[in-house]
Formats: sequence, C-alpha cells, structure tokens
Amino acid sequence: MCGIVGYIGPKEAYPILVKGLKRLEYRGYDSAGVALLNGNGIEIFKKQGKVIKMEGIMPSETPKATLGIGHTRWATHGIPSDENSHPHYSQSKNIAIIHNGIIENYASIKERLQGRGFTFKSDTDTEVLVNLIEDILLSEKVALAEAVRIALNQVVGAYAIAVIEEGNHDQIVVAKKGSPLVIGIGEGEYYIASDATPFIEYTKQAVYLEEEELAILSLSNGMELKSITNEIKTPYVQELEIELESIEKGGYDHFMLKEINEQPKSIFDTLRGRLLVNEGTIQLGGFNEFKNKFLSADRIIIVACGTSWHAGLVAEYLIEDLARIPVEVEYASEFRYRNPIITERDIVIAVSQSGETADTLSAIKLAKEKGATIFGVCNVVGSSIAREAHAGAYTHAGPEIGVASTKAFTAQVTIFTLIALTLARKKGTITESKFRQLINELDGMPDKVAETLKVDAQAKYIASVYKDVANCLFLGRGINFPVALEGALKLKEISYIHAEGYPAAEMKHGPIALIDEEMPTVVVATKTEHYEKVVSNIQEIKAREGKIIAVVTQGDTVISKIADHVIEVPYVDERLSPLVTSIPLQLISYHIAVMRGCNIDQPRNLAKSVTVE
Ligand code: AGP
Repeated sequence: MCGIVGYIGPKEAYPILVKGLKRLEYRGYDSAGVALLNGNGIEIFKKQGKVIKMEGIMPSETPKATLGIGHTRWATHGIPSDENSHPHYSQSKNIAIIHNGIIENYASIKERLQGRGFTFKSDTDTEVLVNLIEDILLSEKVALAEAVRIALNQVVGAYAIAVIEEGNHDQIVVAKKGSPLVIGIGEGEYYIASDATPFIEYTKQAVYLEEEELAILSLSNGMELKSITNEIKTPYVQELEIELESIEKGGYDHFMLKEINEQPKSIFDTLRGRLLVNEGTIQLGGFNEFKNKFLSADRIIIVACGTSWHAGLVAEYLIEDLARIPVEVEYASEFRYRNPIITERDIVIAVSQSGETADTLSAIKLAKEKGATIFGVCNVVGSSIAREAHAGAYTHAGPEIGVASTKAFTAQVTIFTLIALTLARKKGTITESKFRQLINELDGMPDKVAETLKVDAQAKYIASVYKDVANCLFLGRGINFPVALEGALKLKEISYIHAEGYPAAEMKHGPIALIDEEMPTVVVATKTEHYEKVVSNIQEIKAREGKIIAVVTQGDTVISKIADHVIEVPYVDERLSPLVTSIPLQLISYHIAVMRGCNIDQPRNLAKSVTVE
C-alpha cells in the first residue's frame, strides 16, 4: 500500500511525478502529495483524496524543479487527512520524505525525539522517521545518506523511502525493506517508484532494491548501492519487458473490464512456451529445477490471501485429484501466527499477483527458516515474493491494475493446472491418454474463454435485475466451490453488496435460513460429477422462493426450467472448468458495480497491493 515515485535529472519533475502517481493510485488513494526541490528550498503540495485533488491545489504555474518525490497513500497510522499526507518535512523543513510501509517502533522513537525538542504535525510514523534522520544528521554531523542509514538501523518495520534535502540538488537517497522500490536508470537521470509503471516510457533499465539496501542516486557520482550495514553492493541492472499499452485502458471504461476481456490472451501467455502440445509435454522451467523435491514432498502447503487464496483452493483440488499429493491451503496471515509444523520435506507455494503481499511474504520467510522449499507463483516479475522463493513460475498475465483481481486468478489457475499435470505424469498417477486429453483441452482454453466472454450482454441484463439487492449467495461444489468464493469476493469488493460464498451442499447447514424472495443465489452448476446434487440444491432454494442465477454448461435443458436466469458456458473437462465459470461471475459483479455508481478500479478502503500485515 502507498505508492512512491521520484525523479532527478534534467527534465521538469512535476509532470513525471503526477503521471507516475496516477499509475500508482492502485496502491492507495487516501491522499497524494509531491515535494519539489528548487532554489526556493523544498516545496510540498499535498491533499487528502486522489491525485486529481492534489492537482487542484497546485499554483497555476507549477514551481520549476528537476528533482522531486511524490506519494499516494493508503492510510495506516493516522486518518486520511491533509496533515497525514506525504511527503513529510522534518522539523526544520530541510529534509522531506515519502514512505511506503510501517515503522513499528515509531512510538518509542517519537517519545525520545519529543524529549529532544521535536514537535510533530501529523499522526504518522513517517514524520517520526524523517525527524529521526534530521536528529542524527545534526547530532552526528554526517551527510544525508549516512543519517538515513543510521536511522534505518534503529527502526523496526517495513519501508520503501525516498529522502531529499534542502540545498542538495544532486541527490535522492532511497532505501527498502519489506516494501518494493525500483530505480529506473535513464540518460543522466534517475527515476524511482514502487513499481516500474511510472517510468516505463522513459527507460527500460531498472534496478530492484533488495531487502535492507540503500541507494544514493547522484547526478554527479552515479548510483551508489550499499546495505544498511554499510556493505558496498554492485547494482544488478535488468531490462524491463513491460510495454506502455499494457498499463493503459486501451479504450475500455475501466481497467477491470479490460482485464476481464484480456483473459484469452493472458491464459495464452501463461501457457506459451510451457504447454508443448505437439510434443505432448509441459516445460515449466522453475519447476523442473525442483521436481524431485516436489515428487518426494510429504505435502504441499499453499499460502496466499484473497483471490490468490481462492486460486490456491482450486490448486488443492487439481493437485490432490491428479497427482495424489496432500495439499493444505492456508491464509498466509493465519499460517504464520499459529506456530505451524513445517519440515524440510514440505513444499510451500506462495501465490500472489503482486508478489508484495506482506502476509504472504512473512509466511514464506517463516517456512524458509524452518527448511521448507519455497515455490512462488507471482505475476509481477522481480517482486519480493518472487525473489524470496527458491524457485517459481511467473503467471505472465501482464500488469493487473484494477484492484479487483480477474486475469491474475485465471492465470494462477492455469499455472496450477500445468503443475498438477506435470506432477501427475511424473508420479504416474494419470494415464497417458488422460494427460493428452487434458493438455489438448488446456491448449484450447483461450478460445473457450473468448467464447465465454460473449455472455457479457446477458450478465449486464442480470446485473440490471439484481443491482439493488442487499445480499447475495454464491454456491459451487468441488473445484467450483473456490469459484463461488471468488464470485462473492468480487461482488462485495467492488459493489459493496454483502455476498457469501459457500459449498453448495453446506447451504442446508445454515445459510438456507437466509433464503427468501429477496435473496438471489448465484450457482455454478456446470456438467460435473456433482451436477445432480447441485440441481437438488437449486430445487431446495426454489422451494423457498429464492432467486437463482445459474452458470450452466451449454445445452443444459434441466436447470433452465428451474432457474430464474441461466448463463451458458462452453463444456470443458471439470478440472478446467474454473477457467470458464469464473468469467460470468466477474462480469455480473462488474456490471452491478457500474450500475451502482461505484468506483470500479479503486474500490473504497482497498488497495491493490497489501504491503502491511
Ligand atoms: C482481489 O480481488 C483482491 N483485491 C485481494 O483479495 C487480493 O487478491 C489479495 O490482496 C492478494 O493479493 P496478491 O495476489 O497480490 O498477493
């Protein structure tokens, strides 16, 4: 949460910062601000609300500056307000900072600084950090970077920070622990950001800071990289592969709609070079390296949050069914705090679109300490989880900007299908003909998903009927139970309608009490092993006058007679069905949220990347 951006070089900094902040708004939109350094000193402009609100307070002639930093906030310490917005000045206003993360021991440091005469204007932990830096700078008589380094050795918590100093027009000091920070290297200029999107049109050369690294970005001396324990490091410069078009809306009203419609391509990209149908094999680079560990593992533990956790549940069905390896799926936030039993014979798979989710990152650090092999399934290349893992497979879904995850989910499910099939074949738990049938079907999934997307108009109509409901139930069985959970999460996060996902058969143990003529239930009822049983569940709801929206297999003649609405999806093997059944649920939620006038890509209180625990 929180997005940070910065620039130093020959160009005007402000337009670069503002454009960058808009691209990082998915990380938080409680407030926005910039600090510009020029002959007048450090000038800060900041405002509660979105970047556009901050633009509204800028003077008609923006102060000229070629060095600046900017921040978009997701509030942790202190309510969203102008005072709590970043950047923060130090007491003397000689230093300014932006920060993504949490300084856990801020209270004791604040008390100490108050004892030394510092006063505070905000409730934030960040203002404490900038004053700690100032205190060290003055008392130890050291340069800015050294003061930052000493300060970081005193703080507990997470940070991605950028610090600038009055009169120091040559330098930005940045550091990272637990929150992401990437440096873009241009011709005689540096960019910094939480991810590479703010500078992708200017440079493709990037350095991702590692944990507890600090960099001095100087126009006269270049980049100096060191650890916060003062060990000099050599920057690893990598070439980014992101294209500008992939982070723009491309004619769609919302990123979420664009990303829903991109799924045929994102699934294709996830499969590309890995599913070799003509040769009848699957090549998963990161997996091959650790295949023996996987094959001899006592169990696989999947840790994740939110939508990624739902993809993990789909993986449990796939891996246990096809490869007969026990799988446990854990909320990352719960896993790490219950003293889990982990051994060297365990494989822990972390699933994360952003690769930055703090709970998931902490969970794998714990498992790694206990000797488990860590495998990452991430979308963002070079992200913290990807780097912390021993091995992994990127989902290659392309940048996902809408806060509600859509194409990342189907890409994660696609990767898990490849993993489950590979394990099954190596373990001999699948026949050759079944393996061939499934890889052929998997190869055809981009087309099946494209066909499924044609239900959009129908989803929109259904949305118009149910847009004003207060509650909604989502049911599914087997591998489609996680799809029901995901459908409910999509609806609640973007439309603010209360929604519950349940295993269809579990409904009679409680949620059935909620059913009346006001209560719609979305049921995933495609042709699977559980079909007849799901039909009975639908009958039970209809008997209580509940409304049914059923996602069925094309040509289904039974459910169409019982349900209030049916949406048909193409027939696919049950194991691949989440890739099609999740699509109508995404579309229904999207249209309901649009009709309710909600902010689709930036729902209230949420952020795309949850980098706090
Ligand atoms: C999904 O729509 C959510 N916004 C959220 O649940 C998300 O999936 C979760 O925060 C995990 O994020 P990650 O995949 O980036 O780790």
